[in-house]
Amino acid sequence: MHKSVLLEECINYLNIKDDSIMVDCTLGYGGHSSEILKRVPNGHLYSFDQDDEAIKSSRDRLNSIRDNYTIIRSNFVNIKEELNKLNINHVDGILYDLGVSSPQLDEGDRGFSFHQDAKLDMRMDTKAKLSAYEVVNEYSYDKLVDILFKYGDEKYAKGIAKSIIDNRPINTTLELVEVIKLGVPEKYKRDKHPARKTFQAIRIEVNDELNVFEKSIKDALDLINVGGRICVITFHSLEDRICKNIFKEVTKIDSSLNNLPVIPDEYLPNFKLIKTIEPSDEELDENNRARSAKLRVIERVK
Ligand SMILES: C[S@@+](CC[C@H](N)C(=O)[O-])C[C@H]1O[C@@H](n2cnc3c(N)ncnc32)[C@H](O)[C@@H]1O
Repeated sequence: MHKSVLLEECINYLNIKDDSIMVDCTLGYGGHSSEILKRVPNGHLYSFDQDDEAIKSSRDRLNSIRDNYTIIRSNFVNIKEELNKLNINHVDGILYDLGVSSPQLDEGDRGFSFHQDAKLDMRMDTKAKLSAYEVVNEYSYDKLVDILFKYGDEKYAKGIAKSIIDNRPINTTLELVEVIKLGVPEKYKRDKHPARKTFQAIRIEVNDELNVFEKSIKDALDLINVGGRICVITFHSLEDRICKNIFKEVTKIDSSLNNLPVIPDEYLPNFKLIKTIEPSDEELDENNRARSAKLRVIERVK
């Protein structure tokens, strides 16, 4: 079962009104979507997910609340195009709860977990072309080193990439774990799981997670109405940095204006940072997945 992270905080900070048009970019198992839907009796909820299993399991949950929602089976990179197709050009609130859900991790056959044996896959969208198998078995040494450094911050990227090249073909997750262990020093295996960073890097590459999020959040800023808010929950520093930098960029005041006694309205930014929140100690005790979570909230003010 998926336990939603920072649920109460998201719902409070989204400033939902009963006629709000809301977007949940990451429906998952419907935890956030169902709480949003309860609060928009006269509005509408549009929920995106690219994973058929997630959509199947959350439909009943949403149906038990009411029917003023639409599930969009698409990557959220298409947020603008998909909403425009439905004649929606502006919305009142947008949520991203990034990454994979607990069922995606736990269902052995998806290949996300380094604890369970499965075919190398890691696609959130099972219709996508690139899977972990191609990354592991077809990428060059240089390309592997690059993604392990860039997306995994893996200091033994070179050793692991060499071990992968030397041991091909690699078919399953647990085979990959053994190959990773051959590429790292003994002491590295004692601390955290030695495959953790490599699996993160491959998953980000397979789903193009960082590029997709960067494009989508920029489109989300265009879609949001004045007074509307965007909430983003990230789970690692790479996606958090993208969010932080984009939010900083759209909320900054040109430094040359700081000397003016009053800054004219037209020079003030369109967005205001509302808050950055980390899970409470209580939530951390109850939900291991909340460990590295961070929620950033921004509002369109003009
Ligand atoms: C952390 S879970 C969301 C959990 C949800 N908030 C809940 O409370 O049940 C993330 C979900 O977003 C989906 N997802 C991740 N990236 C996506 C993307 N680029 N486009 C569409 N869905 C995506 C995943 O398939 C997964 O189901």
